[in-house]
Amino acid sequence: MLIQDMLFDDTTDGTGLPDIGQLRKIAEPFSTVEESSSNDSGLPEDELNLKEVFASFANLSGTVGNLSGIPGQNSSIYSFNPGIFPGGLPVGEELKRLLNPEEPKNSLQSGAENGFDPTTFSDYSFGRDQKFAYDGRETFDVPAIRNDFPILNQKVNGKELIWFDNAATTQKPLSVIEAVSNFYKRDNSNIHRAAHTLAARSTDAYENAREKVKNFIGASSTEEIIFVRGTTEGINLVTQTFGRKFIQPGDEIIVSMLDHHANIVPWQQLAKEIGAKLRVIPINDNGDIILEDFEKLLGPRTKIVSISHVNNTFGTILPVKEIIQSAKRWGARVLIDGAQSVAHTPINVQELGADFFVFSGHKIYGPNGIGVVYGKKELLDILPPWQSGGNMIKDVTFEETIFNDPPAKFEAGTPNVADAVGLGTALDYVSRIGIGNISKYEHELTEYAREQLARIEGLQLIGNPKERVSVVSFILKDIPTADVGRLLDLQGIALRAGHHCAQPALRRMGLEATVRPSFAFYNTKKEIDYMVDAIRRIQYLNIK
Ligand SMILES: Cc1ncc(COP(=O)(O)O)c(C=O)c1O
Repeated sequence: MLIQDMLFDDTTDGTGLPDIGQLRKIAEPFSTVEESSSNDSGLPEDELNLKEVFASFANLSGTVGNLSGIPGQNSSIYSFNPGIFPGGLPVGEELKRLLNPEEPKNSLQSGAENGFDPTTFSDYSFGRDQKFAYDGRETFDVPAIRNDFPILNQKVNGKELIWFDNAATTQKPLSVIEAVSNFYKRDNSNIHRAAHTLAARSTDAYENAREKVKNFIGASSTEEIIFVRGTTEGINLVTQTFGRKFIQPGDEIIVSMLDHHANIVPWQQLAKEIGAKLRVIPINDNGDIILEDFEKLLGPRTKIVSISHVNNTFGTILPVKEIIQSAKRWGARVLIDGAQSVAHTPINVQELGADFFVFSGHKIYGPNGIGVVYGKKELLDILPPWQSGGNMIKDVTFEETIFNDPPAKFEAGTPNVADAVGLGTALDYVSRIGIGNISKYEHELTEYAREQLARIEGLQLIGNPKERVSVVSFILKDIPTADVGRLLDLQGIALRAGHHCAQPALRRMGLEATVRPSFAFYNTKKEIDYMVDAIRRIQYLNIK
């Protein structure tokens, strides 16, 4: 019986109180005698006359009114209002044909209606031939799902919000918002300390969340799950513990050109400090890593390979299984940065064989400020602590400190209990929909977006990786990306325009910035159609 159930079960001992012996058992491993204690584009301003474009765009959208068509609403985004373009320009049906040569297909279909073809998935592609306990249903109901996300039901700049910035952060379902709120309303206490009821409830809630994470990523024990602030902090934890203990001068650390700055800078700084070498797996013009070159980088001095599972700029899915197998042949350890994969694909860290797997809660519909480091138990046992203080100790004297066992050894101080609880609830939510279903649906959305965007003259898709998910990057001829981002925002479309904290990847393509829509399971093809339409209008106004 869960502690929470016991607390409200007045059959326990007639007093309505829980069995304190059982509470202590759960808290035992952690018990101590302690007292509780951007504009990221960096682009120069454009040469375009932005003011004018803004004015005419705002004017256009205000006048037309039909741009406000939005999934789930009845208005049609393709019903043009004749006569809106002054000065003898094409209007009505003719303009519609010119700007929009093909009627887009309808959206808001479920996965099965979209006819997913499993043969389109390759070996390491998400969703192929994978059966998961979570997969209760073949399809899911997108309009119903959207109702779970209160933030999606609002207007921005007078237009229905379209959230295409999911690679930066995902929105939160009501169940997550309420879990955090209820924790503070009912259960808030410091954990692993004190024998009072709220401490027991909080401890129980926090450790339940750890259990959910363990199950979600297929770890073998909760001792392998460390709560941190997010992916960035998680990678820093590994560099400062594993890195400092095992990397010697002259040793090599391998990252890839596809990595986020969060997986470059901490390793680069450590390498500089220690006198180790940072080696980089190159990529080809499609945005795929060159596996043969990776094999050549490996050697007896390779101590760790630290790479993204999914790239955040081109959406490349990296062949991590192959990478891990090759690294193991040289006895190197592997860290997988799962920030962009965990919300889009089933993860089983044991099947993968990764030594470390890190992710952020906010990218999988959970709260900000909570994330996870999975580490193999055998490694965590021998790693030194990172931060020190309360909670991470078994015993302290002025001469000596005996550290706690993992995961407490790596969780110094009061943890972010409420957001861990929120993350657990987010994982429940994703599991109910089915991560396999999510993979398939998002694959379909991504491919649809690429197809539709590719039809726009003057739009260049950046990257064409073999396996990809959720993210599409593009640039528009003669229109700076930052302007595209701002002009789309006027139409209620939130997406990222900039370098995406992946400057080496973009510079490999000869660019400093792209426009990046990124999709989640609450997005629809109709929203993509709307974005495509809005891009055509921006181009039209730019020509004018
Ligand atoms: C691949 C990748 N790694 C790491 C991060 C950093 O995540 P966080 O800012 O949540 O620590 C991101 C964020 O976008 C990312 O996309």
